[in-house]
Formats: sequence, structure tokens, C-alpha cells
Amino acid sequence: MSVRIAPSILNADVARLADQVALVERAGADLLHVDVMDGHFVPNITFGVPVVRALKRVTRLPLDVHLMISDPDRYLEAFIDAGAAMLTVHVEVLPHLQRTLTRIRELGAKAGAAINPATPISVLSEVAAELDYVLVMSVNPGFGGQHFIPRSLDKVSALRAWLNASGSTADIEVDGGVDLDNARALVGAGTSILVAGTAIFGAPDPAAAAVALRRAADAR
Ligand code: DX5
Ligand code: ZN
Repeated sequence: MSVRIAPSILNADVARLADQVALVERAGADLLHVDVMDGHFVPNITFGVPVVRALKRVTRLPLDVHLMISDPDRYLEAFIDAGAAMLTVHVEVLPHLQRTLTRIRELGAKAGAAINPATPISVLSEVAAELDYVLVMSVNPGFGGQHFIPRSLDKVSALRAWLNASGSTADIEVDGGVDLDNARALVGAGTSILVAGTAIFGAPDPAAAAVALRRAADAR
């Protein structure tokens, strides 16, 4: 299975967002990761529905929208209408996870569940059939540029084993501190989507950084 690279615009130059997106699109990025934060579930505030809608107009990359918000159910339809092809919700805020994932699919997007570093994979044990992908947070969400939590690697391996045993082909996406040093190991453990913010948009040449990350991920 080939690995998909999802640059996160969190640390991009937002005054030149369309240009920044075009750079990574030309460099062969597969998805565009959009971090939505509400200042409540996480301490930071970022982008909302209008930004997703604007991005949809300037890129052909599927928009991978990561909702770090306390009440995602209220906004599923708005983000999918605006252009989200993949919508990720955090299990930590959802008492009715099965319903939320089902609703995302009904609205026409891929459904993903995100788990924080302190959240065990067992919270997903009853929803394997509703998951298109799982997003494993390898930092505590809220900010770009944090250090990768090494334990995340074992979590990915255990998650892959459990998904396989459940008959699920759901992807595993890893988000937080992904870089040239850990990309290969993450893929080896079963990751199929690598999110990278600082490693791409923090680099002097984001296009070259995206290419380098793919090479590192594909290295044998
Ligand atoms: C963190 C966000 C990430 C962030 C990753 O809360 O969910 O998507 O952009 O940034 P880096 O790659 O810098 O850790
Ligand atoms: Zn994210």
C-alpha cells in the first residue's frame, strides 16, 4: 500500500495560503490536512468552515479536515458541504461515536476517529465497521512543532494488528512531530497517511521537504 503525504497548513504562511498549497500540490502531496481548533477542546484557535470552502476553490487535493473541537456533531454537515473529503472527529468528546461516524459517511465523506496520546485504542473496539481511518495523535493536539511521542509507534503497531484481526482495511494516519527521522518506522508499523506540518511548511523549501518526506517514507 502506498503511503499518502498530508501536509498540514497549520504552520503555513496563511497570508499566502493558496501559493503555499500550490507548492505542495505540485510536489506530489496526496491530501491537504486542515486543523480546525476551537480554543475549547484544545487551547488554540485556527480555521473554520470558510477557510475549508476557500481551499476547495484553489486545490484539487482532497481536504483532510481534523476537527479538534468540543461539539463536532454540530458542524459535520457544514464542513462536508464546504469541501471536506475526509472528516476526523476526536473520540474524547463523543459519547455517541458510532452515530457520528455513520453520519459523516451518510453525508458523503470518509469518516475518521482521532485518539489523543492518552487515549487507548480499545475505545474503538466496537466501531471497526464504521471507520475509514484512525488518526493517531503522536503529540497532544493544539500546536504544531511539538516533539513526536515515541510510544506512538507501538500504538500504531497494536492498532494495525487489531484492525487486521477485525477484518478492517481502515487506514492509519499519524499526526504530530512526523519528520524524516520517524517516517520510515511509522510506515513499517502500519501507518498509511503521514501528516506533516513543521517538517514541510517549516522548511525553507516546502516542495522539496514534501518530496524528501515521501522518499523517507518509501525507503526500504
Ligand atoms: C496538532 C495538529 C497537527 C499539526 C502537526 O494539534 O493536529 O496536524 O499541524 O504539526 P507538526 O507536524 O508540526 O507536529
Ligand atoms: Zn491535525
